[in-house]
Amino acid sequence: MSVEEIPTQPFSDQKPGTAGLRKQVRIFQQPRYLENFLQAIFDCVTPLKGSTLVIGGDGRFYNRQAIATALSMAAANGISRVIVGLGGLLSTPAASHLIRLRGASGGLVLTASHNPAGPDGDFGIKFNVAGGGQAGEALTDQIFASSLKISRYLIDTSINVDIDRCGISTFDGFSVEVVDGLDDYARLMQDLFDFDAIRAWLKAGNRIRYDALHAVTGPYARRILVDQLGAAAADVVNAVPLEDFGGGHPDPNLVYARELVDHMMAEDAPALGAASDGDGDRNMILGPGLFISPGDSLAMLAAHLHRCPGYRGGLRGVARSMPTCRAADRVAATLGVPCHETPTGWKFFCNLLDDGQITICGEESFGTGSSHVREKDGLWAVLAWLNVLAASGLTVPELAQAHWARFGRHYFMRHDYEDLSLEAADAVMNALEAGLPALVGQRFDALTVTLADNFAYTDPVDGSHAQRQGLRIVFGDDARIVLRKSGTGTQGATLRLYLEHWRQDRLDLDPPSALAALETLAEQLVGLKRLTGRSGPDIVT
Ligand code: G1P
Ligand code: ZN
Repeated sequence: MSVEEIPTQPFSDQKPGTAGLRKQVRIFQQPRYLENFLQAIFDCVTPLKGSTLVIGGDGRFYNRQAIATALSMAAANGISRVIVGLGGLLSTPAASHLIRLRGASGGLVLTASHNPAGPDGDFGIKFNVAGGGQAGEALTDQIFASSLKISRYLIDTSINVDIDRCGISTFDGFSVEVVDGLDDYARLMQDLFDFDAIRAWLKAGNRIRYDALHAVTGPYARRILVDQLGAAAADVVNAVPLEDFGGGHPDPNLVYARELVDHMMAEDAPALGAASDGDGDRNMILGPGLFISPGDSLAMLAAHLHRCPGYRGGLRGVARSMPTCRAADRVAATLGVPCHETPTGWKFFCNLLDDGQITICGEESFGTGSSHVREKDGLWAVLAWLNVLAASGLTVPELAQAHWARFGRHYFMRHDYEDLSLEAADAVMNALEAGLPALVGQRFDALTVTLADNFAYTDPVDGSHAQRQGLRIVFGDDARIVLRKSGTGTQGATLRLYLEHWRQDRLDLDPPSALAALETLAEQLVGLKRLTGRSGPDIVT
């Protein structure tokens, strides 16, 4: 071992956002940039010394280089063992599982999620703590603070490991174990779901289509859906992970997974269509001719999860992020379990999961997961749906219709205004916030404002407070308009407008027409188009 101490100066922009430090590859490629941020982590997270660290990423451009640097720096900073995914690949949920399974003190998850990849795309680093969840607010603040006063980093360039072969490489006081991340993850899924029932369901002629969008879940889907469950190989598409994700935007939604959507809207659509994102934590679910919104998917899974072996004992509780529609709240009420409303970002679910207060949780942004790991999990959601379909004998449309008939339907849409100037975004937020108090009690046609505030959250487990988590205008149980600023963009500012309308009378409308009146009201109250000069949102999901 030959540890070098390299002098460096701080960068001012290494503040991790909702999902880690996410920047253009070009920024990460600046000399010392990656090294500084890694050193800030090693300096803050002292329990890493003498213990185990997991490293893996979604396979995007710069993954391999970043892993080589991280290994050399881990060795120099006194970490005793690093577990790396074969080929540098670990989906985000698989990384979370590996941290838990191996009792690691933390993990580096190298991903910018669904953001485009390649030399002109984005890269990112998330630090996950022991237990498998993302670093919380306090720790990320500390990492940022330490990045601002960094003066040296430690590296041992003699560490050289072939990450394309499973096995253990031992150095003086340091070792690297390369593992096939698929094995452990597949075993976990097998414990949670009834693989026999799913196999029989597929064998009976039910077909699926899974689109890995050329990102990290391809090999996982092949192993589990094709090899273990017997789906046709041709039904798992875009399954080879590429460094630039094939030039696409691996975000499983109606815009970026268009090919899958078209397939599912066609005459001979299979029984279930699904896609996952760059790092495998998001999911989109479709039935023949029907898109299941993430908020509905959360609610429907909550209502049926007891059909899966890993959840036979029922649910302890449910949680959703604030902007996510309130469909899950109704299921939780019927089940007699609590439903928590948290700020946006998966890390807010982790305390509730650790404390055993919830079993399932989700976000409107195509994230669903459970107590099995501490990240959202795309393939988990797909397998949960397959298990529920196989066990209930219902089709996706039958299940959805029955659900809406029982609970009512929460029509939901999100409008994203991207790449706004920071000033323009703040101007919209500030103007709305200033007007909120005067809105309470006002009536707009059939809707009356019962609450209008900037959402704040007190964590029931550790008592920590999160302020200013999004502006919401609530019309009782009937509807909500929510506006918040994205924490994951890498360019300018993104504003997200969320529209939710609960209907019990009409269950068969298409969401844009069901929400047309609320959209008009939102423009009247928020003035997004008026204040930004835009003609409409960039993305509607
Ligand atoms: C977005 C989603 C949020 C999710 C995060 C990470 O964050 O809205 O639900 O947890 O990505 O995947 P945002 O850009 O809105 O801050
Ligand atoms: Zn992701």
